[in-house]
Amino acid sequence: MVVSAKERGMVAAVKERETVVALSSGHKMPAVGLGVWRMESPAIRGLIHSAIRAGYRHFDCAAHYKNEAEVGDALAEAFQTGLVKREDLFITTKLWNSDHGHVLEACKDSLKKLRLDYLDLYLIHFPVATKHTGVGTTASARGDDGVLDIDTNISLETTWHAMEDLLSMELVRSIGICNYGVTLTRDILAYAKIKPAVNQIETHPYFQRDSLVKFCQKHGICVTAHTPLGGSTANTELFGSVSCLDDPVIKSLAEKYGKTPAQLVLRWGHQRNTVVIPKTSKVERLAENFAVFDFDISGEDMEKIKALDRNYRTNQPAKFWGIDIYE
Ligand SMILES: NC(=O)c1ccc[n+]([C@@H]2O[C@H](COP(=O)([O-])OP(=O)(O)OC[C@H]3O[C@@H](n4cnc5c(N)ncnc54)[C@H](OP(=O)(O)O)[C@@H]3O)[C@@H](O)[C@H]2O)c1
Repeated sequence: MVVSAKERGMVAAVKERETVVALSSGHKMPAVGLGVWRMESPAIRGLIHSAIRAGYRHFDCAAHYKNEAEVGDALAEAFQTGLVKREDLFITTKLWNSDHGHVLEACKDSLKKLRLDYLDLYLIHFPVATKHTGVGTTASARGDDGVLDIDTNISLETTWHAMEDLLSMELVRSIGICNYGVTLTRDILAYAKIKPAVNQIETHPYFQRDSLVKFCQKHGICVTAHTPLGGSTANTELFGSVSCLDDPVIKSLAEKYGKTPAQLVLRWGHQRNTVVIPKTSKVERLAENFAVFDFDISGEDMEKIKALDRNYRTNQPAKFWGIDIYE
């Protein structure tokens, strides 16, 4: 693939319009990213390249998504052809539960698969260590009782200090956590030598988590909203959950602003200072989900969306683990 000078110019122009947030690590993270969970392998190359052309500079990966190698191939090609430079991208990946005792090896395994020599952000995927099954295998082994085999010998503090070591080795530029509630976030602030730059949590209009979002922001932890569209049909299929995109208030506000429900919900996330990482496998939705910087939701309408909160989690790993780690 040869990238023309005109196309490089267009990509640069989009880059300048993109909004970024400053992290406590001193690095900057683009305010809209592309999540790659449940992105099927054959389409990844095209989706990543189309996303870069549409202006995305932030990609949210994880060892557990089992597509790091395909993402890595797509990124390598994008660098080789001059579509984008490595330093202009922000790449996140995550430590799986079964690798808490093997942080360095797991990070190196992800780097190898992604074909990168550093990560912009490395996150602890869930606040739970489970039975180790081999680096990068990302299993969720169950015990004889059919319940997730949780390793009670590795504390989250031990895992965090191993994450901190990756910074001094220059394998990662920022480190953070996912799915930590207020209590665990308070705790990590007490034992961290380097505080988490990011807490990536499920949040959308039906699951607003204002206390957690405000607590993180007060302590300089950037909140990234995973599942920012409420999971839409993907989570309806996997977990039987209901998405906020079908809410009549969301639909009517979207119509009022001349936007789609997805754009309205992502803009709402942006206006509450969360970074949003919607996933789509549809090329035509890439541009739609990125076009959230050219309008403002009024204070009155932000209040209408605030009133939709149902404290409703759409992503329920307990379905696969036989235990609800959020209890
Ligand atoms: N840290 C964690 O524990 C964690 C957990 C979950 C997710 N995540 C991250 O967050 C990312 C996003 O979460 P998610 O994928 O679960 O949920 P999501 O982004 O809220 O929703 C994805 C669903 O929305 C659909 N969709 C995308 N754009 C749309 C649009 N414009 N209009 C209507 N529907 C649209 C997608 O379908 P199509 O693909 O068909 O467009 C898919 O069904 C993940 O990819 C992952 O990177 C992290």
